[in-house]
Amino acid sequence: MRPITSLTVQAFAKINLDLRVLGVRPDGYHELRTTFQSIALADVLTFTRTRGPFRIECDDPACPTGRTNLVWKAAASVWKAAGRTGALRGVTVRIEKNIPMQAGLGGGSSDAAATLGALTTLWRATLPAGQLQQIAASLGADVPYFLEGGTALGFSRGDILFPLDDISRAWVVVIVPGFGVSTKDAFGWWDAEHAPTRRTASNDLEKVVAKRHPIVSRLVGALKREGAFHASLSGSGSAVFGLFSRRSEAQAAARLLAGPRTFVTPTLTRRACRRLAAK
Ligand code: C5P
Repeated sequence: MRPITSLTVQAFAKINLDLRVLGVRPDGYHELRTTFQSIALADVLTFTRTRGPFRIECDDPACPTGRTNLVWKAAASVWKAAGRTGALRGVTVRIEKNIPMQAGLGGGSSDAAATLGALTTLWRATLPAGQLQQIAASLGADVPYFLEGGTALGFSRGDILFPLDDISRAWVVVIVPGFGVSTKDAFGWWDAEHAPTRRTASNDLEKVVAKRHPIVSRLVGALKREGAFHASLSGSGSAVFGLFSRRSEAQAAARLLAGPRTFVTPTLTRRACRRLAAK
């Protein structure tokens, strides 16, 4: 069998339909209960066999292309798990970055999960059952979710997963304000508020993020007024989203509220994620 020379995959973004922060763990991470949902907004990653050292290229100059990129860390983990030695080499990854960064949409984590899948195929690595999930969890709390996608309940750091029945397809308006939020900062703000008890939103991080960035509450309110049957901050932000039953309603709301980074995109089932991942 001739070796595959190139693989192109889509790495889908997620939104958090809800997110509860249940407490702080001894390791400083937060105990969560969250519902993840895949959406069709996606980065596109092309893995090409090349000579020489491992390389990442990205069309977004703000995206790091060195060892700090989760794609690099994911590749290094598969390299090691496949029993390869020496410096990481032989592949160039081209990332078409469509998922805004620092937005709570999981772009970096989804890219990492896509890399784990693509490189195990390209390097024909046969890993013992469960090892891919373990590697994913070591890369970041929500990386394991992206190995499956769809609708799933996440516990613990968000890495203990229970697949749920897919929700009926909804059209999602995603609005990304002109600033990013670091996940670490958002959880730090939650700590500083001493775990607010009165819940005012379906995402427990919304209140603390909106305190620093009031536009978040304004956008959630505006999406609801425009007919969203659910609207919230996604993850630790800065993106907010609204769910609509009809595409035309979503498009009308997006036109009214449009900023430079507004997307209208459908939710995806787990099966659709699998089917559409390979380009
Ligand atoms: O795991 P990941 O690198 O994506 O997390 C980024 C940061 O977000 C962590 O360093 C931690 O500060 C915070 N975090 C948390 N509790 C979680 C997930 C993330 O405190 N469940």
